[in-house]
Parts: sequence; C-alpha cells; structure tokens
Amino acid sequence: MNVSAVGRPSARALVRSISDSKIREVANPFMADAEIIRLWFGEPDLPTPSFICDAATKAMKEGKTFYVPSLGVPELRQAVADYQSRLKGRPIAADRIVITASGMSAIQLVVQLLVDPGDTVLTTSPLWPNISEASRLAGATVELIEMSVKNGSWTLDMQRLADAIARRPKALFINSPCNPTGWMMTAAEQKVVLDLCRKHGVWLLVDEVYERIVFEGDLAPSVLSIAEPDDRVIAINSFSKNWSMTGWRMGWLVAPTSVIDDLAKLQEFNTASAASFVQWAGITAIRDGESFLAHQVDRLRRGRDLVHQRLAAHPRIRTTKPAGALYSFFAVDGMTDSLAFATRLAGKDKVGLAPGVAFGPGGEGHLRLCFANEVETLSRALDRLEIALGR
Ligand SMILES: Cc1ncc(COP(=O)(O)O)c(C=O)c1O
Repeated sequence: MNVSAVGRPSARALVRSISDSKIREVANPFMADAEIIRLWFGEPDLPTPSFICDAATKAMKEGKTFYVPSLGVPELRQAVADYQSRLKGRPIAADRIVITASGMSAIQLVVQLLVDPGDTVLTTSPLWPNISEASRLAGATVELIEMSVKNGSWTLDMQRLADAIARRPKALFINSPCNPTGWMMTAAEQKVVLDLCRKHGVWLLVDEVYERIVFEGDLAPSVLSIAEPDDRVIAINSFSKNWSMTGWRMGWLVAPTSVIDDLAKLQEFNTASAASFVQWAGITAIRDGESFLAHQVDRLRRGRDLVHQRLAAHPRIRTTKPAGALYSFFAVDGMTDSLAFATRLAGKDKVGLAPGVAFGPGGEGHLRLCFANEVETLSRALDRLEIALGR
C-alpha cells in the first residue's frame, strides 16, 4: 500500500501550531556539557529529603502498589485539607481536594474541566508558558495582560484587568508568587479580583505552587483565605517545589464540591491517579516536612539576596527583588534577542539561563536565572555572566 498517498503521519494542526519550549531550545544542545552551570530550569537543587524517600519505600514494601481512587488516597486528601485549612485560616474540607499527578496535570485537568474551544482565558504576562499553552491546546484564545515594572516592582494594572474581566472570559489564571517575575499579588488585589470574578461569573484559577516560597513572612496571600467553598475558584498546588519532589510528579487541586465528580472522571481518563506509594509519601512530606521547607526557603533567600545584589549593581542590568518563587528575572540593556543571547551564554560562557522571550509579551529583553543553588555556584555563574556582558 502506498502510505505516502495520505501524507506523512502528523499530529493535528492545533498541536503542531504550539511552539516548543524556548527554554528547552536553549538547553537541549548543551544537556551533555558538564561545564555548564545550569540555572535555566525551575527546580530546587536539593534532593528529596530521605524521610520522604523512606516513606515511599515503606509504602511500596507494604504493598501500596495497586490502583487507588481517582481523587486520591483518602488519608492524603485529608492531610492536604488539614494543611490547607491551617495555612488559609478557614476550613477546607477533604471532599474539595483532588490529588493529581503533578501541578502541571492539575492545570490540564482544570482546563479540560472548564475551557471549550473558542473560549477566552485571561492571564498575565510574562508568565510560565505552560499555563497559556495548556489553554491554547484546548482551543482557547489566551488574552494576556502585560505587566510592567513600576517603582522597582512588577505591577499589574488593575484597571486593565478589571476591564478584561468585565468582557467575561471563561477564566482568569493568576500565578502568585509568579514564575518568572517573583511578583506576588497582594491580599487587597485578590479581594478586588475575587469580587470582579464573582460579579461577572468568571472562574478564578490560582496557581499557588510557590505559596510557601516567599521571602518576607512565611506564606503568600491566597484567594482561598477569602473565598467561599462554592465560589468559582480553583487552586492549583504541587509537592514539587516545597519538598524538592519535582521528579515525583504529584500535586493537588482545591475546587468547589460541585465539580469534584467531574474532576474524578477527567482524572480517570487522564492519569487515573497519582502513583499510590508517592501519595503515601506525600502524607509524610506534609506532616513532617516543615523544618526541611524552612531550610529550603532560607537557602533560597541567601541565593536570592546574592543574585539580586550582584545583578542590581551591574550597569547594563535592570532587575527587581523577587518576593517569592525561585527566579531572578532581569532586563539587559541592549539585548534584543534573548534566545540568541542565552544560547551564546550557554555555549561560550557555560552559564545556562532561560531566555525572557519564553515567557510571552514583556519577556523579550530579559533573562531568567533560577537561584535555587549554592551561593558559591551562583557566584561563579554571575562572574561568567559579567564577563559576557562586558564583551
Ligand atoms: C507556576 C508553576 N505552576 C506549576 C508548575 C508545575 O509544577 P509540577 O508540574 O512540577 O508540579 C510549575 C513548575 O515549574 C510552575 O512554575
């Protein structure tokens, strides 16, 4: 049979229209280069603490290796509910929790739950691209409110946001603390946004994966602290960053009970569930992980402070002090092609940074540096960056 008569095998047009991650585009050619200091991806450099690994091993040995309920192991759903209730200062019931196979999977489930082809999803920019790409894959149009730096801080124009919400998009995605800018929405802004979303019947989707990685206080403000259980609000969270569990692939959602059965269906037809023994280890992470988390944030604060101080002192760099998350996102005067610059920086100077263009409108002209690393390593990376900028 002549297979070429129907053309080359290919994905559907929508999938083909989504571009590759520009961070990967910089990193892929250099993955085997041992000399490079890798600050391009967003993950803590510490390995998962052994008490969490031991809990997973124990669970496996105890035979916790079978299918589990789609919504998650009940004991973990309860542990997450108790943890979130404590953080948010109001009761969050276990029947509102869905354990997912990563924060990214949680985002996909929410998009599948709510977004029809042709819908508009509103979000901010610069932003971690996976949120908008997941929406585009569902056939949505993504409307971006471009943020800007005012008085040394990333700022969201609340009037522009209010106008956009009034046009009734299907959903508004807010990631705070934000990847890549480190911006954190204030409690007062969250109240305004929640009121507007209520008024216009817009779903408010909050990505809170960095809620514990903040450098003043110990928790980012959260809409869940002010929302009612049956508001159109869904929070996305993850085990990845708090407890150095990026490779374990587990996250969770907090959603109104009225959509939980539908989320169970979607979970069943996506991953079925997060892995069983990973869920049992998750209970240990939440229950016993506070001192590890405090250590992690302390280390990150040292990294942030060093990177900020060095970048802010450089004549070609304009930067802001991140309030949370793992990144410095800075503008380089005279750099108009961040992809080419980051590729050269990796190949020639052996520092791996993410190009700002990867994060959408407002990102070009910037670089993102993940400061989750030893200060000595960060210092060497900054030396190399300064040499590159001096050329
Ligand atoms: C803002 C944001 N949300 C969600 C995630 C997803 O995390 P994971 O899929 O590892 O749970 C990330 C990871 O970088 C992120 O930066």
